[in-house]
Amino acid sequence: MTIDWKNLGFNYIKTPFRYLSTWKDGKWDQGKLTEDNVLHLHESSAALHYGQQCFEGLKAYRCKDGSINLFRVDENAKRMNRSARRLLMAEVPEEKFIQAVEEVVKANEEFVPPYGSGGTLYIRPLLIGMGESIAVKSAPEYLFTVFCMPVGAYFKGGLTPTNFLVSDYDRAAPYGTGAIKVGGNYAASLMPGEEAHEKQFSDCIYLDPATHTKIEEVGSANFFGITKDNRFVTPLSPSILPSITKYSLLELAEKRLGMEAVEEDVYLDSLDQYLEAGACGTAAVISPIGGIQNGDHFHVFYSETEVGPVTQKLYDELTGIQFGDIEAPKGWIR
Ligand code: COI
Repeated sequence: MTIDWKNLGFNYIKTPFRYLSTWKDGKWDQGKLTEDNVLHLHESSAALHYGQQCFEGLKAYRCKDGSINLFRVDENAKRMNRSARRLLMAEVPEEKFIQAVEEVVKANEEFVPPYGSGGTLYIRPLLIGMGESIAVKSAPEYLFTVFCMPVGAYFKGGLTPTNFLVSDYDRAAPYGTGAIKVGGNYAASLMPGEEAHEKQFSDCIYLDPATHTKIEEVGSANFFGITKDNRFVTPLSPSILPSITKYSLLELAEKRLGMEAVEEDVYLDSLDQYLEAGACGTAAVISPIGGIQNGDHFHVFYSETEVGPVTQKLYDELTGIQFGDIEAPKGWIR
């Protein structure tokens, strides 16, 4: 297969190896790499009926010297276990998670896009409840799998701003499952997302489900804004997915860019205080938001065509660390 590394989108591409491990009778088996990309599941599996499943997303980066970086994989392991606990699933020990990710990346090394191509290897760990039981309770067996594929930009523009539509729908309830990475949140976002695409927007902006007055998320990414007084602001709420990229940016904005970096409410009726805005996440990296359509009103942030200077600096710092060009904070890179 020949791959056009510079023009990868965010699509499934079969790579040769994936990792599989099964939890049964209270323990995990040793796990192994396999070439088979089809899962064999019992028809009564809890993942299929009751949505007892969670997943993660992280990336491997090719560095200038040819080596490969993993970014904050331990944080993904921890977040998957927070999801597992909330859904009463078997947890995956952190070392097992990290070892599985490393094995999959090594085995598919030739699919890590070249340095400078803009591509990365997207890694998708997945934990599902399975086995023979139709009861609404914790599944008797679990499957943990990790697969990967080379990807490019998630939102079409990459680092070019795109526009978003404020949705009337919610993706999660205030103390429901919004803060964990479960498929149901993403299933709930499909229809609003499709409506946004049909109207030529990149995706939707979700508001806080309780009052619909504050911005919570940008499609499947987190929101950030840069205020006129140079603060990095990102919303805080129990129904937002705690993005590892977002927490990394909070730290970089403060420690490397000397900004005040805070999690606080972002009210729809006070967007004028933000000079720049963007979406951030593993898949989205940093995607500038050109404008937001809210009913009849269209609010433009920095520009509909150009990335703002602070967003650009944050992007350079984050991706510089990920690709090994800039020294990383301790423990961020493996
Ligand atoms: C990610 O950013 O890794 C995600 O999981 C979001 C989306 C692609 C589902």
